[in-house]
Amino acid sequence: MADLQSYATLFLVFLVTALLVRTLFLKSQTKVRLPPSPMALPILGHLHLLGPLPHQAFHKLSKRYGPLISLRLGSVPCIVASSPQTAKEFLKTHELAFSSRPQNIAVGHLTYGTCGFAFAPYGPYWKFMKKLCVSELLGGRTIDQFEPVRREEMRSFVKLLLEKSKAQETGVNLSRELSNLTNNVVSRMAMSKRSSRTEGEADEVRVVVQAVANLVGTFNLGDYLGFFRKFDVQGFGKRIKDVHKRFDVIMERIIKEHEEERKKEKGGNGVKDFLDTLLDISEDDNAEIRLRREDIKGFIMDLFVAGTDTSSVTSQWALSELINNPIMCEKARKEIDSVVGKNRLVEESDIANLPYLQAIIKETFRLHPASPISLRQCTQDCKIKGYDIPANASVFINLWAIGRDPKYWDNSLEFRPERFMNDQNPTDVRGQYFHLLPFGSGRRGCPGATLALQVIHATVANMIQCFTWKVGHGEGNAKVDMKEGPGLTLPRAQPLVCVPVARLHPFPCIEI
Ligand code: HEM
Repeated sequence: MADLQSYATLFLVFLVTALLVRTLFLKSQTKVRLPPSPMALPILGHLHLLGPLPHQAFHKLSKRYGPLISLRLGSVPCIVASSPQTAKEFLKTHELAFSSRPQNIAVGHLTYGTCGFAFAPYGPYWKFMKKLCVSELLGGRTIDQFEPVRREEMRSFVKLLLEKSKAQETGVNLSRELSNLTNNVVSRMAMSKRSSRTEGEADEVRVVVQAVANLVGTFNLGDYLGFFRKFDVQGFGKRIKDVHKRFDVIMERIIKEHEEERKKEKGGNGVKDFLDTLLDISEDDNAEIRLRREDIKGFIMDLFVAGTDTSSVTSQWALSELINNPIMCEKARKEIDSVVGKNRLVEESDIANLPYLQAIIKETFRLHPASPISLRQCTQDCKIKGYDIPANASVFINLWAIGRDPKYWDNSLEFRPERFMNDQNPTDVRGQYFHLLPFGSGRRGCPGATLALQVIHATVANMIQCFTWKVGHGEGNAKVDMKEGPGLTLPRAQPLVCVPVARLHPFPCIEI
């Protein structure tokens, strides 16, 4: 009897152990296999590894852990992709699962709780606005209609530099002047306003938009750590509310002015600015989606934040590289002189005939992509390169690192536009070639690329056609410092200050 009991006990122990082992074995088989990851700290996860320039910190980590990394930033699971192949997996192969962006506190507040367009979840509202961007606001026909506006702005920019050159000013802050130029272009296309150099409305908008970009571009710990969110430790919440209020007051004033004008000009057939088109849709009972005032204001804010500093910063990096590489600058000038001559300024319509200029801009995008990270959200569990990517993970696609990948680019850190002069290898920058993605790729890629390319080519061409440049306050053969600073749009660490020396006499089409 005692024997039977001990046999039964033994059998039970065996059964329980077998079941336990089986459960553990199955569990280990279904375990999530995340991409490689550095050691994490409790609570912070990997937050301590990020500095003020996240794209550089991610790049450093990818050199050690590979092109697909998993991180935990506070409580948020994140994935970093740093090679053309991994980027292609997210942006093309599994595009639908990564067509939204993660929400954050700043965007939520600043866009009237709507997420605006750039952060809208992939769904009917985003699709409606995207169609509007492609077919109307940022489409080819609208961009052509506004060409005279851009030409006028370009002329006043050249005229201003010429005045400064004649007055022999000791150094022009080109970062500021280029930011004014791109702000005026977007501001006139969006709502027919321009900076008057005094206290114009476009100036007010520029200052507020700068503050918005700083808020969106700063790493807000509240997005990753509940404690910081709850107690607003960095004072973010207060700053966001303040900036939002300032923007709202300006936008309300401009919208009211537009509404007044529209009443007076019913049926007028002048060129509509973006705000007019958006107001038309908001008043249209048959529109697929009835836009609210908040949607309109959120969308205009998106255009300014996404479309002004990006183009200005790219032009600054291009000129910086050309000043540091005078032989290339001279080659570009010769090309312009032979195609355009010296009796008129370069126009947007000349760009197609200036292949070396185009190569310079591509090379600038490769080394200095103004939006260094494409930020996406995973909306359904996915497997990429054998690793599990969990739904809700934030995905950082490091466009900056991809442009410097030595596996794809010879002497990858050297500025060498000639690499794009090979007819056999006509790389485009609009998202089809995954080793060069300054505008991202796929349905969530940048809708402003055509406008940006027109503005940047024309700006850089005019700056080198009309002037030679001396660094700083004009002393010796100093080089431009190429350090990056913190911010949303890959700004220079120091403003670009140079002396313009006029090169064309008499100056074509410009009277001062
Ligand atoms: C040098 C200039 C520019 C660069 C480098 C740039 C780059 C980018 C990048 C990388 C993205 C994210 C793409 C992705 O996730 O795949 C983006 C999105 C966006 N850009 Fe641009 N951009 C530039 C100029 C502009 C301009 C001029 C505008 C409009 C006036 C604009 C409007 C937008 C908008 C609205 C989005 C969000 C699109 C969406 O979420 O569907 N950008 N841009």
